[in-house]
This record gives sequence, C-alpha cells and structure tokens, in this order.
Amino acid sequence: ATGSSPGRGALIVFEGCDRSGKTTQTQKLFDCLVAMGRKVELWRFPERTTGVGKMIDEYLKSGNNLPDEAIHLLFSANRWETAPLLKSKLAAGVTIITDRYAFSGVAFSAAKGLDLNWCKSPDVGLPLPDCVVFCDLHPEKAAKRGGFGEERYENIDMQLKVYHQFQKLRQSDWKVVDASQSVDDMHEEIKTLALEAMDHCTSKPQQRSLW
Ligand code: TMP
Repeated sequence: ATGSSPGRGALIVFEGCDRSGKTTQTQKLFDCLVAMGRKVELWRFPERTTGVGKMIDEYLKSGNNLPDEAIHLLFSANRWETAPLLKSKLAAGVTIITDRYAFSGVAFSAAKGLDLNWCKSPDVGLPLPDCVVFCDLHPEKAAKRGGFGEERYENIDMQLKVYHQFQKLRQSDWKVVDASQSVDDMHEEIKTLALEAMDHCTSKPQQRSLW
C-alpha cells in the first residue's frame, strides 16, 4: 500500500505574517507526507522563477517603484499563470502544499490602504484551498526572533497592518495554529490537519473556487 488515497489532491495553503514559521512548517509537512508515500508537491507564492515572478522579485528587492495597484495585479497574475498546472495536479491526485496564496495577496495590499474588495477581485476563480493553515504569531513576537529581513514589507509597522488584515480575512474554517509553540509540536498539529483535509478530498471531488 502506498498510502495514497484515490480522488483529487488537496490544496493546503499556509498563511501568516513574515517569520511565523510558514517556510519551516511547509517543508516539514512536505517531507513527512513524502515519507508516508503520498503524492505531494511543495509550492510557494510569489513563484519568483516565472516572467511575472522575476518582476515581483525585483520589486521586493526595491529595484522598481510600481503603483500599489500594479504590483497587486502582478502577484495575482503570478497565481493565475500557474493555476492551470495547479488544477491539473490536483485533479491528478497530487496534494499541493503552498507557502502563501491569495490571502497574502489581499492582506499585504489592503495593509497599504487599497480597498479590501478591490484587492479580492483579481483572484476570483482561482482554486479554493481545502485547508488554510494560519501560522499565528503576533508581529511583536516575530520581531524578537532575530528581526525581519531586508525586503520591502519586512518591518514591524507593515507587519502589524498585515496581521490586522489577516484577522479581517480569517474565515471560520481556517485552522489557526499557535506559532509560538515548538517547531515539532506545531508540526504534529499541522500534520493531523493536513491528513484530515486530504481524506476529506476523496469524498469532496469537486474543486471549488475563490472566494
Ligand atoms: P515571501 O517572503 O514568502 O517570499 O513573500 C515575499 C513578500 O511578498 C512577503 O512580504 C509577502 C508579499 N506578498 C504580497 O505582497 N502579495 C502576495 O500575493 C504574496 C503571495 C506575497
């Protein structure tokens, strides 16, 4: 037995502010599911290797100054350009774990003052996640983890605003995980949530869309 279930794969999205442990936890979950013999891939947004992704990368490293609306649409386009592949993988039974998704898109742009509903509109129609894991760490605590990085947005003022926007976006089905606990405890909690979501997909064959 490979342990893989028939039917479509699950879309498991990790969200949270910077330094909340998303990257560590997505990698740990991926490694664990691979070891269990599950069909799984680890993705991230922004995906910086595509044409659009390269523009985003340059922007984040402060190379250019785009209007907030324009960069917002590029982040969305970066999801749309990979959406056909995402959909086909899910349909083929591959579970996709992703480090950020459209919720980051809205939270960051709304934190800059753009209208929340305007921010949501370009992502309408993208695959709906089967599980949203919110890595919950207040930015004041995140800052104590050795400070933020060098990129745009990696400062306490912006992170506090983003955290506030995430609270607004938070839906009742989000899995809020306390990101101040140990890496291993957090992983155990997330592993259970992910396996539940994957099992659920066998009885929920229809992929729905945002929002
Ligand atoms: P990363 O640190 O996860 O690579 O993300 C880079 C930055 O981009 C991070 O500060 C969050 C931000 N971001 C947006 O502003 N909009 C988006 O749609 C996404 C996916 C990320």
